[in-house]
Amino acid sequence: MDAAPALAKPIEVEAQGLHYARGGRVIMHDLSCRFPAGRISVVVGASGCGKTTLLRMIACLNRPHAGRILIDGTEDVAHLSDGEVHAFRRRVGMLFQGGALLDSMTVFDNVALPLREHSGFPESRIRDEVHRVFEAVGLANVDELLPGQLSGGMVKRAGLARALVERPDLLLCDEPFSGLDPPTIRRIEELLLFVNQNLGGTMIITSHHNETTMRIADHVVMMVDRAAVSGRPRELLAGGDARVAEFFADVADSVPGAAP
Ligand SMILES: Nc1ncnc2c1ncn2[C@@H]1O[C@H](COP(=O)(O)OP(=O)(O)O)[C@@H](O)[C@H]1O
Ligand SMILES: [Mg+2]
Repeated sequence: MDAAPALAKPIEVEAQGLHYARGGRVIMHDLSCRFPAGRISVVVGASGCGKTTLLRMIACLNRPHAGRILIDGTEDVAHLSDGEVHAFRRRVGMLFQGGALLDSMTVFDNVALPLREHSGFPESRIRDEVHRVFEAVGLANVDELLPGQLSGGMVKRAGLARALVERPDLLLCDEPFSGLDPPTIRRIEELLLFVNQNLGGTMIITSHHNETTMRIADHVVMMVDRAAVSGRPRELLAGGDARVAEFFADVADSVPGAAP
């Protein structure tokens, strides 16, 4: 087994002028924001404002009706051909809500699945790669378990293992803390920080846990009024935008300079 897994090549993502409507309702109107390479960005905003939709656009699962999503300042993933989408997705790991593990398959087989489909590795190499990623996410002795036998925190770890097994350059996590108790939230926070520091890659996480956002975000993108405001967490809170202050009122006391 590799002692030191290869570091991902972090990529910068920049959305420019996104427009998107669904069911006659405009969800994004001239939305622009940037996700710095190699950093943890957290996307926040009221329920239903379009956080999941934005992640799905970055993963080419939804297409904006107008605007661009640039990778490293050049490639526009909003307008790729189907073949190019396939190649781009191989650089992207996704942890969507619920973990999306297949219930009838063991945890090992769930995590091995992307490698079996794409890598062409022999089974011995696949076993090593899966165990490498289990170790990175803090899972042991789960090979033969079914997803239904795991706790909520372990399901997140297993979902994260599957998202990481192909060594993505970009990791997208939709609400990785939802449904977890506070100690487990803290452990998943630490795990995401560990993954960012040790495996590299750019991370974009949606969350409605403001305390978590303040602990882990290098960069915050707040979706509001169908657009986005963003910045480093403390700078954003200290910036005087009333909508930001209202949204983060519960954590303002813990952020120096942010309380009114
Ligand atoms: N499958 C769908 N069909 C129609 N509207 C949807 C669908 N999924 C989400 N929406 C709508 O799109 C908007 C954005 O949803 P979403 O991106 O899930 O928001 P968030 O993740 O911020 O809660 C919401 O107003 C929601 O009602
Ligand atoms: Mg959502």
